[in-house]
Amino acid sequence: MPREPIGILGAGWVGSVTAACFAELGHDVVVRDVDPERIRLFSSGRAPFHEPGLGAHLERNGSRLRFTEDAGEVFGSARIVFVCVGTPSTHSGDADLSAVHRVLDELPDVDERVLLVMKSTVPVGTGEKVRNALDARGLAHVGYVSNPEFLAEGSAIRDFMHPDRVVVGAYAEAEGDAVARLYEPLGAHIVRSDVASAEMIKLASNAFLVTRISFINEIANVCEVTGADVVKVAEAIGLDHRLGPHFLRAGIGYGGSCFPKDSLALKQLAANSGYHFQLLSAVIEVNELQKRRVVHKLQKHLGSLRGKRDALLGLSFKPDTDDMREAPSIVLAGRLLAEGVEVRGWDPVALEEARRRLAGVALSDSLLETVDGADAAVIVTEWPELRGLASDEVRAGMRTPFIVDGRNLLDPEETRAAGFVYEGIGRAASLLAELPETPERDSEAAL
Ligand code: UDX
Repeated sequence: MPREPIGILGAGWVGSVTAACFAELGHDVVVRDVDPERIRLFSSGRAPFHEPGLGAHLERNGSRLRFTEDAGEVFGSARIVFVCVGTPSTHSGDADLSAVHRVLDELPDVDERVLLVMKSTVPVGTGEKVRNALDARGLAHVGYVSNPEFLAEGSAIRDFMHPDRVVVGAYAEAEGDAVARLYEPLGAHIVRSDVASAEMIKLASNAFLVTRISFINEIANVCEVTGADVVKVAEAIGLDHRLGPHFLRAGIGYGGSCFPKDSLALKQLAANSGYHFQLLSAVIEVNELQKRRVVHKLQKHLGSLRGKRDALLGLSFKPDTDDMREAPSIVLAGRLLAEGVEVRGWDPVALEEARRRLAGVALSDSLLETVDGADAAVIVTEWPELRGLASDEVRAGMRTPFIVDGRNLLDPEETRAAGFVYEGIGRAASLLAELPETPERDSEAAL
């Protein structure tokens, strides 16, 4: 296989995983980032964030990976350059494309053919604007391909190496071929399309995934008032081959670096074009409300929350990552602090990040210390370590043995049998469970 030197602009999650995986496939890869600290860490073989398998990939392929602050080094050595810069939300909810524009500004007036491959999630129409800008600069020989990423944090290396599909949207067939060839060793299903469709595939995929999450969350909320169990309902829905089992886990809402911003960006993209995307607007609103429902569950059992002590267990937006961007724990902590709650937080890997984002929350890496004297323990993120939460030790330490399971991680019957009052999401039996009138520490009799 011919091994192309590859350039990567942006050493964030997507850029660093893409770099490590192309190096694993045998390519020499040069990665550029504007953050000197990030470059220093990667150059010493370490990743500045927690992503399973990334460290091993970086180590194994160190000889093929180069990290630099200099964009010129990238364009000097690679003909195929992936753009993996961030596209966060602006205040208006549109995607902020300033980092993409900076890439174009830094592109030297190359004489040779260079292919820019857009991996960052961008609004539909971005490719066309970039194409026009390149042509206007006399850089018609610089190619442009849209190749959106579908990497989920925590499983990003696996998602890259074993993709469901690879999307390649191109203006010129040969440019699409050059990118598609890079993925051939993966044996992946490669979808070839025009650039605008490739851009839309990414946005629509994420919009559909969040629609499934908000859908099952609303079903869960209706389950709670009608006596059904959403876990059983979702299991049976998922067995329909037309629907499939994925993204039907009810919980306290989605977060992360992609779903909230990309769904908002698609809603705004439609709105900017004069179309009101009603369904997506509702999906986003359901998610906002879902994060807050936990507060009502706490009030239902504890009455006024002022002066109560609550333990938030799991602070990252999902397990296997230390990423706290748009994590439901942030909204929940804010709401509880506003209610006058003494909030404690535990997470196995995200404490450093949590210190920056959760002012006023007492943080610890000891689960027992976090639940000690608590009136409620709330599972916010389904870390495997929390499967054993309903233990004698935890029950004995809590002021009231009350668990709100925001991810339906625990078995309700077993948890209740272990002496806890249990509230899940969309699990009707919780309607029957009440805390004792006068909560007594470690009092099984009262339950
Ligand atoms: C997502 C997409 O999966 C990926 O393809 C895209 O490129 C980037 O965004 P990621 O944000 O890493 O990846 O996480 P993902 O595993 O998809 O979960 C996102 C959020 O949805 C999490 O907060 C998770 O807890 C929540 N979720 C997911 C649910 O609440 N229920 C589910 O059934 C699935």
